[in-house]
Amino acid sequence: MALRKILTEPNKILRQKSIPVEGVDKDMQKLMDDMLETMYAAPGIGLAAIQVGVPKRIIVLDIQQKEGQKNPLFFVNPEIIEKSKNLTTYEEGCLSVPGQFAEIDRPDQCHIKYLDYDGNKKEMKAEGMLATCIQHEMDHLEGILFIDYLSKLKKTMIIKKLSKQKKELERIVV
Ligand code: NI
Repeated sequence: MALRKILTEPNKILRQKSIPVEGVDKDMQKLMDDMLETMYAAPGIGLAAIQVGVPKRIIVLDIQQKEGQKNPLFFVNPEIIEKSKNLTTYEEGCLSVPGQFAEIDRPDQCHIKYLDYDGNKKEMKAEGMLATCIQHEMDHLEGILFIDYLSKLKKTMIIKKLSKQKKELERIVV
């Protein structure tokens, strides 16, 4: 396993639409292992492949991390079959939008189909925080970030802040 670099906004790669995976092979599993390790190290609870620069429809999640207990979930080519009309609100952040948080409304429940780590076809009905995380990560596959749901003014302010932070970081590295 290896840590990968997490891309941060603004970055055009994050805006790419990811392409479906043709099947889960050893290379895909290696990528999922790396993504999981990168996510835990960040630390975060979800990561999409595009966030480490790979435009494939792959997501890893673990929303139940507790003292050494890990419950990783892998979603390859996830598709939403159905989502509820009821909305729920969580304060969201994103490893690609460091240090920024905002309340976002999303359907409270979603029913998805996907391939798991071994390439088996699966379905899942998720609700609450898991449903929100799945939808947040699935947005990444379309090149959408949570800040896209905010007003133009708020979004512009956040992007400006992130650009400034990036320049400062680059200065230190150099
Ligand atoms: Ni995110």
